[in-house]
Amino acid sequence: MQKNSKIYIAGHRGLVGSAIIRKLKAEGCNNLVMRTSKELDLRRQADVETFFEKEIPEYVFFSAAKVGGIQANIINPATFFYDNILMQSNVIHAAYKYKTKRLLFLSSSCSYPRLCPQPMKEEYLLDGKPEPTNESYAIAKIAGMKMIEAYKKQYNVSFFSIIFPNIYGPGDNFNPKSSHVIPALIRKIYEAKINEQRVVEVLGTGNARREFLFVDDVADACIYFMDKLKGGEIINAGDGKDISIKELAYLIKEIIGYGNDLRFNTDKLDGMPQKMLDVSHMNEYAWAPKIPLKNGLIATFDWFVGNYKDIAAKENDKN
Ligand SMILES: NC(=O)c1ccc[n+]([C@@H]2O[C@H](COP(=O)([O-])OP(=O)(O)OC[C@H]3O[C@@H](n4cnc5c(N)ncnc54)[C@H](OP(=O)(O)O)[C@@H]3O)[C@@H](O)[C@H]2O)c1
Repeated sequence: MQKNSKIYIAGHRGLVGSAIIRKLKAEGCNNLVMRTSKELDLRRQADVETFFEKEIPEYVFFSAAKVGGIQANIINPATFFYDNILMQSNVIHAAYKYKTKRLLFLSSSCSYPRLCPQPMKEEYLLDGKPEPTNESYAIAKIAGMKMIEAYKKQYNVSFFSIIFPNIYGPGDNFNPKSSHVIPALIRKIYEAKINEQRVVEVLGTGNARREFLFVDDVADACIYFMDKLKGGEIINAGDGKDISIKELAYLIKEIIGYGNDLRFNTDKLDGMPQKMLDVSHMNEYAWAPKIPLKNGLIATFDWFVGNYKDIAAKENDKN
């Protein structure tokens, strides 16, 4: 990628897309193409093709998706399936048709089988059934990676996929109806603190283990790997360490300074028992994340507190 390369960032207002934009701009890239979902609904094939024909992007960071936490996945499986399959299929096909040089598809550790051996190696994909609570999202992500492999075989494109663990950071979605575990815990515990609540209920047993990557590290990986991966390649990128939800909740409680108790609600589902990526393939490329979990959580909490009024006001507007 050169500073004047034409680069399309799909989903540029999202958690990851906005971090990619910040980093590309900081590196002096000056030919960035962006569209909101209102300006270009990526589920509409004809509109996507018209956009590619007009813009002819040389590089595509595909960070648009229908994304959400466990409850959102349980309640909206059809939307997770339909939106993701359509968006990714339209963009990958248009990128092939209009000769995009390189395309990066962002995938997720949710794609691995529910009972996958840990740490999860890239070759374990499709070795078992996905976790039922996020089956639609997992199948869509697997389809995206497999579609890229197929386009590499048939058309020799330089498109590839990176599988990330749970991503978090400033700009995350803090809406309790759809948020992932870190923003959900930050909000619950912070509100319990300011409302002097005696106890905070955490969904699940707390025993499930997860790996987390700070969003600036994700953006760094996306840009680093864009010029390095081979067509069709699928690679895990994470820090190769996990933490139980219980440990995470207590760490967040400590950062927020909430003095009361946490109670784990064992009636709620835990999702996959463990999700930790094997990063040996990534290590061969000499890339590693830089932000330790505690520092990333502090930065995310600070952002949340600084934006708390705006977040609440936007939610009230939508109601
Ligand atoms: N968050 C995680 O924990 C995580 C973990 C692993 C992998 N990933 C992957 O990383 C990528 C980015 O995730 P994220 O967390 O940044 O998601 P996000 O914050 O929810 O952002 C997603 C973006 O997708 C865009 N989008 C949604 N529907 C669209 C449509 N119909 N047409 C056009 N654009 C649409 C939205 O655009 P508008 O804002 O314009 O509406 C939004 O900015 C996804 O591929 C996701 O699967 C995420």
